[in-house]
Amino acid sequence: MSFKNYYLFKNGFEKIFSVESSKLKFGRGSLEEIGKDAKFLGMNRIAVFTDAQVAELAPVAKVVESIKSSGMDVSVYDQVAVEPSDLSFKEGSKFAKDGKFDGFVSVGGGSVIDTCKASNLYSSYPTDFLDYVNIPIGKAIKVPGKLKPHIACPTTFGTASECTGIAVFDLLEMESKTGIVSPFIRPDMGVLDPSTLSTLPPLVTAANGFDVFSHACESLTARPYTQRPAPGSPLNRPLTQGANPYSDIACLESIKLVGSHIVDAVKNPNDNDYDALMFAGMLAGIGFGNAGCHLPHGMSYAVAGLVKDYSPIGWSSIKPMVPHGISVILNSPAVFRKTGPSCYDRHWQAAYAMGAELKDMRIEDSGNILADLIIRMMKETGIPNGLNAVGYSNNDLDALTEKSYVQKRLIDNAPLPISKVELKEIFRDAMNYW
Ligand SMILES: [Fe+2]
Repeated sequence: MSFKNYYLFKNGFEKIFSVESSKLKFGRGSLEEIGKDAKFLGMNRIAVFTDAQVAELAPVAKVVESIKSSGMDVSVYDQVAVEPSDLSFKEGSKFAKDGKFDGFVSVGGGSVIDTCKASNLYSSYPTDFLDYVNIPIGKAIKVPGKLKPHIACPTTFGTASECTGIAVFDLLEMESKTGIVSPFIRPDMGVLDPSTLSTLPPLVTAANGFDVFSHACESLTARPYTQRPAPGSPLNRPLTQGANPYSDIACLESIKLVGSHIVDAVKNPNDNDYDALMFAGMLAGIGFGNAGCHLPHGMSYAVAGLVKDYSPIGWSSIKPMVPHGISVILNSPAVFRKTGPSCYDRHWQAAYAMGAELKDMRIEDSGNILADLIIRMMKETGIPNGLNAVGYSNNDLDALTEKSYVQKRLIDNAPLPISKVELKEIFRDAMNYW
């Protein structure tokens, strides 16, 4: 790929990008080394965060055993909500504060890891809850400094929360997802053991795989970092900088791995598929952790937040919900049809990496080619057919648009400016695909 055309330097605009990530450990058996890793990070009195379902599974038992055998105290908090809210973040923070822990280990999906990040934050630097939350919903006040050490152990492969300084939650009074972004909430270490994936139901695997794909594809097609005004001070450089050459490499490799393994991982998985998808999630995590996502994720918060009665098979929540990966990928084909013309070579490269047959295709059509390929793979892996299939109709377009348009950080990271009218049209195009 030629990056030259995408990164054009201009006076007064950014010329520097940085690459940040947690320290990462990957491989089968890595959970059994947690005790020694925790000790190395200076932990002695550890809170293990998980949810009630994961608490019953082997990964938590392995982590607790490893911590105990290294001679440290451990308390398990298994009350993390499947889709965390400000309320569940506050409950986790209270547990963290009352326990006077000197370190945290989270074992579970993105909800667990995000709750642990927030609990570490609010127990270390207590303040009004909205102070650290993204604008315009919160005040986005900077986190004052380092938190206690945190090792994140994902048992899914979608969110890449172990790599990022982002924690997402539902703000209940606004029925909307928002988040906290700070380099200080990024875990000190992520431990990725693909053996944790073998019990995932097929639709969960599909949803997580498409979340990874969309992280990678959104980062690859994000507004280039060189289009952002120079920050003045390095301390003002945002965590999500826009597309950059390092994220591009990680994201293209991630898309290639997802394209090669997602259908088999859903229909007839083997260890190799799980290893590949977990590694793809890690790569995309480093990519979008530094570049940022854009429209599919910005729209997904409204799709998840305004859910009516959709209850997917494979998730333990008793409440209706649109799982994160599904709420993202349902928007992606409509988004990439819209963004394709603004950087068609990037959409072309994404389609190629995903496995599209490009012979006799025109590069100018790359957004549509990519969208068509995603739709075919959605069909093959049992993803619902657009927003209609999870309970939305054209009557919901205004509400979906209003709720999404406040996701300023994500909307502004798109490769072209998007008006509210255009956003509504993208939602209309995402209602059904086949
Ligand atoms: Fe995501």
